[in-house]
Amino acid sequence: MSFSIGGYVFKNRVICAPMAGVTDKAYRILTASFGCGLNFTEMISDQALLHGHRKTMEMLDLSQETVPAVVQLFGGQPQNMARAAAIAEKQGAIIIDINMGCPTPKIVKNGEGAALMKDLPRARELIRAVVNAVEVPVTVKMRKGWDDSSTNYLELCRIAEAEGVKAITLHPRTREQFFSGRADWKAIREAKAAVSIPVIGNGDIFEAGDALEMIRLTGCDAVMIGRGGMGNPFLFAATAAALDGEELPPTPTLAQRIQIALRHFDLMQELKGDERTISEMRKHLSWYIKGIPGAAQARNRINQANTREEISAILMSLLD
Ligand SMILES: Cc1cc2nc3c(=O)[nH]c(=O)nc-3n(C[C@H](O)[C@H](O)[C@H](O)COP(=O)(O)O)c2cc1C
Repeated sequence: MSFSIGGYVFKNRVICAPMAGVTDKAYRILTASFGCGLNFTEMISDQALLHGHRKTMEMLDLSQETVPAVVQLFGGQPQNMARAAAIAEKQGAIIIDINMGCPTPKIVKNGEGAALMKDLPRARELIRAVVNAVEVPVTVKMRKGWDDSSTNYLELCRIAEAEGVKAITLHPRTREQFFSGRADWKAIREAKAAVSIPVIGNGDIFEAGDALEMIRLTGCDAVMIGRGGMGNPFLFAATAAALDGEELPPTPTLAQRIQIALRHFDLMQELKGDERTISEMRKHLSWYIKGIPGAAQARNRINQANTREEISAILMSLLD
């Protein structure tokens, strides 16, 4: 079953979450190959865009991707965000998402990310400025609120809809929770009842069955998968099949997991070169081998390795 945002139709309801340090182009090409219907970029700083930082401009490059990607921006000042959104649109963004959920101290102390949920008048002004600055659809990704005493997501959902936002994503934890406890899926159901724009449910989907359950319990229009896909892009294929009522693909073998880990490595190497790939792939590789006998020792060896050949040999040794 397809899903649409502001007139753009996606082939299914399975979305890969924005994750800083994870969802770069290599990762998005991989999730697309596993059947994910819509990707998000990593969050991109409005300031860095306005200054034209090279690595930030690179993050706007969506070429070679077979599945569309939403460009996610973060910032705290309406006019800066509006200017950054206009740049992103000019560079080819087809949908722009505003980050109102990042809990990281260095982000919220600047009034960005989840800090916007503490100041809804500014959140409204910021949304309005961005919507007015671009022609493309604008979406908002939010948490449940700042803390348990201020769970104002329904108010922010209504503000977003009234200001012309075309879809919202809700990760129903508060900022103070960071990633602790369980995502409160009831809040997704309430958001769905509160607005008529599409609601994307997010939080704690680790198996295809979790996605089915989230849709059943909340009625959300699409599901977004973050941590569950790290080192496990197979989850996108399984979830897409489950949501379309198809038979689930078989659980990947260890050999298949290693093969995909190396494919991920090669994709990144093509895009980012040797040095960055070795250092950035270390965390991905540790996710790919998590839970396998010998993983801890292999991880230590990967952290010392400096070439693809060494990494490949370490991964292959896990098959013995
Ligand atoms: C490593 C990491 C980086 C993240 N970076 C972002 C980000 O750049 N923008 C954003 O909106 N959310 C970010 N998130 C939050 C995820 O998009 C998602 O909302 C959260 O992980 C809950 O979904 P999950 O339970 O499927 O992981 C990040 C999460 C993780 C684990």
